[in-house]
Amino acid sequence: MRTPITELLGIEHPVVQGGMMWVGRAELAAAVSEAGGLGIITALTQPTPADLVAEVERARRLTGKPLGVNLTILPTIDPPPYADYVRAIADSGVEVIETAGANPEPFMDLLKGAGLTVLHKCTSVRHALKAQRIGVDAVSIDGFECAGHPGEDDVPGLVLVPAAADALDIPFIASGGFADGRGLAAALVLGAHGVNMGTRFMCTVESPVADEVKAAIVEQGELDTVLIFRPLRNTARVAANEVSREVVRLLDEGGEFADVRELVAGSRGRTVFEQGDTEAGIWSVGMAQGLIHDVPAAGDVVRRVVRQAEDVLRAALGADPDGSGVDQQRGSALSR
Ligand SMILES: Cc1cc2nc3c(=O)[nH]c(=O)nc-3n(C[C@H](O)[C@H](O)[C@H](O)COP(=O)(O)O)c2cc1C
Repeated sequence: MRTPITELLGIEHPVVQGGMMWVGRAELAAAVSEAGGLGIITALTQPTPADLVAEVERARRLTGKPLGVNLTILPTIDPPPYADYVRAIADSGVEVIETAGANPEPFMDLLKGAGLTVLHKCTSVRHALKAQRIGVDAVSIDGFECAGHPGEDDVPGLVLVPAAADALDIPFIASGGFADGRGLAAALVLGAHGVNMGTRFMCTVESPVADEVKAAIVEQGELDTVLIFRPLRNTARVAANEVSREVVRLLDEGGEFADVRELVAGSRGRTVFEQGDTEAGIWSVGMAQGLIHDVPAAGDVVRRVVRQAEDVLRAALGADPDGSGVDQQRGSALSR
């Protein structure tokens, strides 16, 4: 499958593994890239820019194929040294930077000067157009279904993706709610040039999260997520558990961030991922978990997503009129 995204990123398949805090480490990113997708290491999972460079080197030992780094810039009381991370990314030898959270304009000259391809992740057509205006190479547009921050517009992919296709001149990938080949096929038909997946890649062999978290994703359905921080206009989609429900309750009753600060602490989320106690804190996961029924190797996800997309597109075009090559119930065509 060649699309403007595979051409731009120099990859074989139009499948990207989005940046994920605590999850996007060398093994996962390298496995996705090695299988022909684009794997992305998450910059801020590394405590310092020097650690990030070392993590990229670790991934480089596992694959010679294109790699990316995600840099998420969010307003915080005690911000990390973003400019130092950007310089480290520019010098690290990765081919792609995925920016998210804020406008990457202040860093564009440095990034383009270093020869990086800039992929900006956003959640609305107007932000995608802004990114296009400031010169990013491609955008990744996250629909309401996504894990993490879906924005405040609540536009699901079925509308957001074709709306972006109508508006944008640069290549773009659809993100949020994609977990199998039917999603990739749909994204392409709606006008995107590939997909970005987070939750699906979090539930793979190379993902560093505890087995209990992967088992929870397999167990949980599409209804088992919660939107927190709505009243603060900083919405995040996380797993439904006692902690996330308590955060929603406190804020709905008029509470402020200070009232939930301890509940939402990053250290608690890290405990979930490292120790496997899914009730220890809040943790990002998307509605796509309702489509996830196994814990495959990340490379197998890339390969089977592409294979199933080809199958369903062929069936839809009538080349496989009785659909016999495709079991849409559980995506079992994927494991053939
Ligand atoms: C555990 C987890 C952590 C994430 N952390 C980040 C992050 O630090 N920065 C970011 O831009 N996106 C982050 N995301 C969002 C993903 O990159 C991606 O946009 C999203 O997962 C797409 O939706 P999906 O989960 O339905 O595939 C995270 C997602 C997950 C599941």
